[in-house]
Amino acid sequence: MKVLLFCDPGIDDSLAIIYALMHPDIELLGIVTSYGNVSKDQATVNAAYLAGLAGRYDIPVISGAEFPLSGENTVYYPEIHGSQGLGPIRPPGSVQGNYQEFHYLYKIIEGNIQDLVIVDVGRSTSLAAAFNLNQSLMTKVKKISLMGGAFLVPGNVTPMAEANFHGDPIAANVVLKYAAEVVISPLNITNSAIVTREIANFIYNQSASPFKNLIPPVTDYYSAYYQKMNPGMKGAPIHDVIPFYQLMNPAFVLTKERKITVLTCQEGRGTSEADLRSSSRNDGSKRFIGLQFDYRHFISDFIKIMVNKV
Ligand code: RIB
Ligand code: CA
Repeated sequence: MKVLLFCDPGIDDSLAIIYALMHPDIELLGIVTSYGNVSKDQATVNAAYLAGLAGRYDIPVISGAEFPLSGENTVYYPEIHGSQGLGPIRPPGSVQGNYQEFHYLYKIIEGNIQDLVIVDVGRSTSLAAAFNLNQSLMTKVKKISLMGGAFLVPGNVTPMAEANFHGDPIAANVVLKYAAEVVISPLNITNSAIVTREIANFIYNQSASPFKNLIPPVTDYYSAYYQKMNPGMKGAPIHDVIPFYQLMNPAFVLTKERKITVLTCQEGRGTSEADLRSSSRNDGSKRFIGLQFDYRHFISDFIKIMVNKV
């Protein structure tokens, strides 16, 4: 599967990048970096650093948005992801990479329009801008997969809103309005995509990959935050890996097809709404919400990919 990834690495974004780089059936054609967990500039360095660890200096790292469409100042999350986005890991200030300006993403999309999937695991500002600047091309992209939303479950930045949709609800609505097909991985499933320190250590011990040294320290850092917030929690949810897992293993994720709206008003900002009453039916909207998944299958798939034994 050919993928163009939009992200804000960030620990779980970084694990998603590693998963995509290591998956034998995923061809990562480019990484668009934006503000979110860290600044746009830091996200760009981190993406190039991770691609470089695998010797993938060829992968374009494309500069995206610095703030949401509303123009508001952004809030970063060093307490969750570390001051530079990789927990205790400090990538060098300047990193070799195939850095490209924003318009370069159209070259990737045009060249692969027949079978390209876009995955967005950050605030959707850059993706919404891509629609705004070239609607006719973007509406031809066959599938877009988003990590975002919380449907009838608690949010993670407000009681009702998930961080990506809350960060730029206007952008999320632009994508939901214009995309041909959207597959969503919301907190309903990503909250349960837990990786423990034991799993991280197992991957470290079994793996010969260039990423192995990174896995235990970032998981430790990330888990420490989640365990502080939720005493008793064993590990941390790697939200951003789920869109890739869901794309590659659709039979293991239960989805419902429903029109989705993201609230933009102050009190409800970022709240994702869909009609999930038991009387409601798939509505032909081509907006597929992931609501349940098979954790045991997920975690064995994750380990298998991360130790490179597929
Ligand atoms: O709500 C989870 C999302 O917010 C993930 O994309 C994570 O990286 C954080 O930014
Ligand atoms: Ca993210």
